[in-house]
Amino acid sequence: MRIAMVGAGYVGLVSGACFAEFGVDVCIVDTDAAKVAALRDGRIPIYEPGLDKLVMDNARDGRLRFTTSLAEAVDGADAVFLAVGTPSRRGDGHADLSYVFAAAEQVALAAQGPVVLVTKSTVPVGTGAKVKALVRQARPDLDIAVASNPEFLREGNAIGDFMRPDRVVIGIEEGASGERALAVLKRLYRPLYLFETPIVATSIETAELIKYAANAFLAVKITYINEMADLCEKVGADVHDVARGIGLDGRIGRKFLHPGPGYGGSCFPKDTLALARTAQDYGAPVRLVETTIAVNDARKEQMAARVVAACGGSVEGKVVAVLGLAFKPETDDMRDSTALVLVPQLVAAGATVRAFDPAAVANARPLLPAAVHYAESALDAAQGADCLVLLTEWNEFRALAPERLKAAMRGDVLQDLRNVYDPEAMRAAGFRYGSIGRT
Ligand SMILES: NC(=O)c1ccc[n+]([C@@H]2O[C@H](COP(=O)([O-])OP(=O)(O)OC[C@H]3O[C@@H](n4cnc5c(N)ncnc54)[C@H](O)[C@@H]3O)[C@@H](O)[C@H]2O)c1
Repeated sequence: MRIAMVGAGYVGLVSGACFAEFGVDVCIVDTDAAKVAALRDGRIPIYEPGLDKLVMDNARDGRLRFTTSLAEAVDGADAVFLAVGTPSRRGDGHADLSYVFAAAEQVALAAQGPVVLVTKSTVPVGTGAKVKALVRQARPDLDIAVASNPEFLREGNAIGDFMRPDRVVIGIEEGASGERALAVLKRLYRPLYLFETPIVATSIETAELIKYAANAFLAVKITYINEMADLCEKVGADVHDVARGIGLDGRIGRKFLHPGPGYGGSCFPKDTLALARTAQDYGAPVRLVETTIAVNDARKEQMAARVVAACGGSVEGKVVAVLGLAFKPETDDMRDSTALVLVPQLVAAGATVRAFDPAAVANARPLLPAAVHYAESALDAAQGADCLVLLTEWNEFRALAPERLKAAMRGDVLQDLRNVYDPEAMRAAGFRYGSIGRT
């Protein structure tokens, strides 16, 4: 089989490489010529564990190609996937669908024969119908089936998630077009039958909503445990025990019950916002999600005050080391990372910030104040610091020897915003240690 993947971002590149690994002939097309040139050169533009080898192996074996020419990619493809960005639209929080619509129209204009056009990007309910109308108008002569196949991979574990998903969601039109699209997609995902991966086949509208409902639910869950953590701090309880105590209940589940400095990333913030806007437009507001957005935004804003309080009420003239900038470990993605809120506030409050991240510094640099110093390692960042803030829980930070960290510093304040360290061990090493939801 042969597919075109439009967009070589986190989703397009990972999905394309994984389909190639399944044995499919994949051509990934991107408008960013520099990105395509890098990929052709064997350079991977994003940090994602295992992706370099997967791309290299499949490119070498001739199953994975990169181009800037949509016509070349679409030519002879059994399916064309749209994996372009759907960021928040400035001003109103709706998903910006301009990339999706532009790409869909370009595909329609480039196609030579019948096409199955699959939206993998996260798009609001009703987008599939709009894409259908748009391609029909662009190419009334052509048979274009549209489908929705939302992607649930997590950055940092993207290959594993794609290769062994909990489910595959496929939204199709009614009638023969829908059947054709479903048959093509089922063939593409056939290797997953080995793992008995459930296929959830629905209408396009339902598939579109499943993606938002899933992300919003997870965002609510994180925000819930964050609020519980705040309450734990007030009443002298331990949020980890609370999380375990409730998470062992099969109805609740243990995942996504880890407190932190507020969720960020390329999906939850924009997707919760887009869902809230869609729901308002349809007169069925999702108040729980609206509140989650507000609580999470406020939480990110509160993190600087937490650090300032730990430093005795001021960071003026103090050196604050920040470990981790990416929104989560194992990625270089800075989109909506809490660092983008915390670090500028610390700088504005008069702190000298020494930051280190194993992968995200190149992406962080243009987004953070110019005054930030970038260290070579965690220990280097801690050098001469009055306060250390652990912001992203990279594994290499877990393994740091507390005594060495402490010895490198001038001060003794440690704010562990991911609850990575053992409070006793940190206090024994001489830190004034603070974490989330543990007294
Ligand atoms: N990042 C994630 O973890 C994740 C997970 C699940 C779903 N999603 C969704 O998948 C979609 C893509 O996300 P991403 O993080 O991969 O985006 P991204 O911004 O990393 O990549 C998008 C790519 O599309 C390219 N592009 C834009 N218009 C194009 C066109 N007309 N033709 C060819 N290429 C074009 C851009 O140059 C860019 O390389 C979004 O809707 C997102 O919400 C993302």
